[in-house]
Amino acid sequence: MNRKHLLVKLLLTSLPVLLLPAACREKVPESELVINIVPQPAVVAPQEGYFRLGKNTAIAIGSEEPKLREVADYLAGHLSRATGYDLKVREETREKGAKSTIFLSVDPRIGGEEAYVLQSGPGGLTITGGSPKGVFYGVQTLRQLLPADIESPVPVERKNWLVPGVRIEDAPRFSYRGLHLDVGRHFFPVPVIKKYLDLMAYHKINTFHWHLTEDQGWRIEIRKFPKLAEVAAFRNETLVGHGARPPFEYDGQRYGGFYTQDEVREVVAYAASLNIDVMPEIEMPGHAQAALAAYPELGCTGGPYEVVTRWGVFDEVFCAGNEEVFAFLEGVLDEVVELFPYKYVHIGGDECPKTRWEKCPKCQARKRQEGLKDEHELQSYFIQRVEKYLLTKNRSIIGWDEILEGGLAPQATVMSWRGISGGIEAARQRHDVVMTPTTHMYLDYYQFDPDTEPLAIGGFLNLEKVYSFEPVPAELNEEEARHILGVQANVWTEYIKTPEHLEYMVYPRACALAEVAWTTAGQRNWDDFKLRMMLHYDRLRALGVNFCDLEERSMRMGPRTM
Ligand code: ACM
Ligand code: ZN
Repeated sequence: MNRKHLLVKLLLTSLPVLLLPAACREKVPESELVINIVPQPAVVAPQEGYFRLGKNTAIAIGSEEPKLREVADYLAGHLSRATGYDLKVREETREKGAKSTIFLSVDPRIGGEEAYVLQSGPGGLTITGGSPKGVFYGVQTLRQLLPADIESPVPVERKNWLVPGVRIEDAPRFSYRGLHLDVGRHFFPVPVIKKYLDLMAYHKINTFHWHLTEDQGWRIEIRKFPKLAEVAAFRNETLVGHGARPPFEYDGQRYGGFYTQDEVREVVAYAASLNIDVMPEIEMPGHAQAALAAYPELGCTGGPYEVVTRWGVFDEVFCAGNEEVFAFLEGVLDEVVELFPYKYVHIGGDECPKTRWEKCPKCQARKRQEGLKDEHELQSYFIQRVEKYLLTKNRSIIGWDEILEGGLAPQATVMSWRGISGGIEAARQRHDVVMTPTTHMYLDYYQFDPDTEPLAIGGFLNLEKVYSFEPVPAELNEEEARHILGVQANVWTEYIKTPEHLEYMVYPRACALAEVAWTTAGQRNWDDFKLRMMLHYDRLRALGVNFCDLEERSMRMGPRTM
């Protein structure tokens, strides 16, 4: 008996509640009727029998609401690909003989727009959402109730496509469920981003934080400032090896790339079709040296600057005393808000050394004029000015927790990354918070013994530790706790150069993130999750994900190259 069968057997014997007595009588292989969903839904009640997906199955929608139709078309396309059936979508009210119908509808009474109820059995399959978004999440759950083969990009010959009989009632714990990607250190083209989004949607993660600008590369076309694409998007070469371990060696290869505005629109539209919001990050005042290489007049010294070729935190930042800097950033943000409909723009704010500001006559004059007592207050002035501008465009800002230093901008949301203390402080000041601490949510950290892993930045963060994170600190009272909007994992790419390595770092840890973000605290259980992940790996495999296979990793000897 191989390990998979052993596991299924274990599930069948230790969790008999998941099994369907009627199904056993009909001699359907037990392994086809296991309910194993990541992230774990709120209520899972197994029922008699099963729903059979066949070539005559119809997908029906309760109304012609365009967003609902879009979800139905998505489901039809998805199921048709693997089964080879030509599944049709039609509008109908529920009717008799709907046995072979998957019926999608919206009922706002379900409880929240992301909530859904899925009911399957011999009488049919229904997904009712609080809005089309909820239906979409029900569809993601349905994918996981079918055999893993359902993710095949080409038709699979199979006797049965069965959905176990079950009633699932589900809704997310947090409204913000984020995954970040740094495309500044390494650039990932649009098809890679689309697969990243597909996998997010599969795990009910709803916010893509697109970290678009860095010292080592500016990755978004801005029409008003063409040198960002011509100059700031390319570096002369890249460090080989670890950034903190001399001697430093460089590869001598020019490297870069950027997204055209058409590509950005394509990504935003694709994400929207998956109910994912895209949050752009334009870093300021630090992590801006690539922009300075293109427009040196925006730095305190006037340059010259070059797009950075190694990793770290660099002194060259936007000058806080120069009006041209604000005109530049406003010009950039004008185009950004046109491209991204999401209500938030991330303005960075982290790791901004103040060494240049301390010596810059323009920055010092600004401090005097504005009555600012130190450089932290100067940074706060900078961020507040940008917030004010974005509020005129109906956008709110999010920034890394350094934006607390020198005073928070009045309506800013804080991303707590240096632990959770910034998040606690912000929530106590009645500001919204997204928790993303290095200790639990930095997917650029090692997940095994560094000697056996591809080069990473350092740290150690295994699947269990990600899973153990509780986003609402016990220190907060009920009212303060309401300011914790949710949780996010970050993927910094200094050491991640390829899509394969990216997937290896993100999965399976993003599955744990998904469950932290979606599943209520009382429902979360590491032992149960670990067991579910054993079967979930089959799904990741079917989806073509180069995930870090824990079973294989724990047996592997010697270093891994990627
Ligand atoms: C960060 O990791 N510098 C936000
Ligand atoms: Zn300056």
